[in-house]
Amino acid sequence: MEMESPSPFKGDILKGKVVLLTGGGSGIGFEISAQFGKHGASIAIMGRRKNVLDDAVSALRSLGIPAVGFVGDVRRREDAQRVVDATVKHFGKLDILVNAAAGNFLVAAEDLSPNGFKTVLDIDSVGTFTMCHEALKYLKKGGPGRSSSDGGFILNISATLHFTASWYQIHVSAAKAAVDSLTRNLALEWGTDYDIRVNGIAPGPIGDTAGFRKLMPQEMNNKVMEDLPLDKVGEKWDVAMAALYLASDAGKFINGTTLTVDGGAWLSRPRRITKDAVKQFSRTVEQKSRAAPVGLPTSKL
Ligand code: COA
Repeated sequence: MEMESPSPFKGDILKGKVVLLTGGGSGIGFEISAQFGKHGASIAIMGRRKNVLDDAVSALRSLGIPAVGFVGDVRRREDAQRVVDATVKHFGKLDILVNAAAGNFLVAAEDLSPNGFKTVLDIDSVGTFTMCHEALKYLKKGGPGRSSSDGGFILNISATLHFTASWYQIHVSAAKAAVDSLTRNLALEWGTDYDIRVNGIAPGPIGDTAGFRKLMPQEMNNKVMEDLPLDKVGEKWDVAMAALYLASDAGKFINGTTLTVDGGAWLSRPRRITKDAVKQFSRTVEQKSRAAPVGLPTSKL
């Protein structure tokens, strides 16, 4: 088993904080749960599968982290309401909401039914809004367990797909564009009115996740790897460290930002000409233009 990198942060930066994470039982959501817990937070996780939640809660508790799991689907408003209330009933307050639940599959646009498109928007975009909406009364300054000047924090997990365009991901790309928009609008409205900071993280290719396995078939994987600026995929740890930074006091003036954690992957372009070739080419062009300056014939001026 691979050794986990040590955290560069002090172990108490989230001491006393209560965090609710959707999709917190697996993948990136679980890693954020574990790292937030290791840095002092109490953790509530929400997900659709009871067995996944039970395993996650046991794993967190075995690390000495106060943890509880609530079954629920972010597409159902009554589930969102029940889980937010149950978290506060269990831990006494809510400081941080992390929206990490997401649905995904690869499909060509022409083969995706409108209901398939809607399903992913319902989970990622509407689900994120619903959770934020239900959590507001607890996160706002002066809410239960909070002082009159101390609002909570929301973190929305997004993606980089919609920065440009992505093959076979029209539904997720649209859904995550909406999530980034929620991040900015809530940061404006709820930052102003309630002292709640709202930020996002856009992870790129992160290894050992359901998303990576589902979205990167081996054939695609090899091609993508060739073009990554840092020559490797990220780890769930990388996303969790960015989340810690944004959630802690280090991020206290960051509001409405979606932080890209992808090693520069979304910027990648195939290199169509080598560095040596470009030197040659560039000098030749310069020399030619010095020898014979290009311009309009004087008769035409
Ligand atoms: N290709 C094309 N369409 C698909 C599909 C696929 N692989 N998977 C689901 N759909 C369509 C269905 O056909 C259906 O549309 P239709 O009624 O017009 O036929 C619609 O999506 C809903 O499907 P359903 O199976 O009823 O949805 P669900 O509520 O069980 O949820 C997902 C399905 C999308 C959420 C499923 O992929 C899932 O559970 N994923 C787990 C979460 C995950 O992948 N996380 C990783 C995040 S990166």
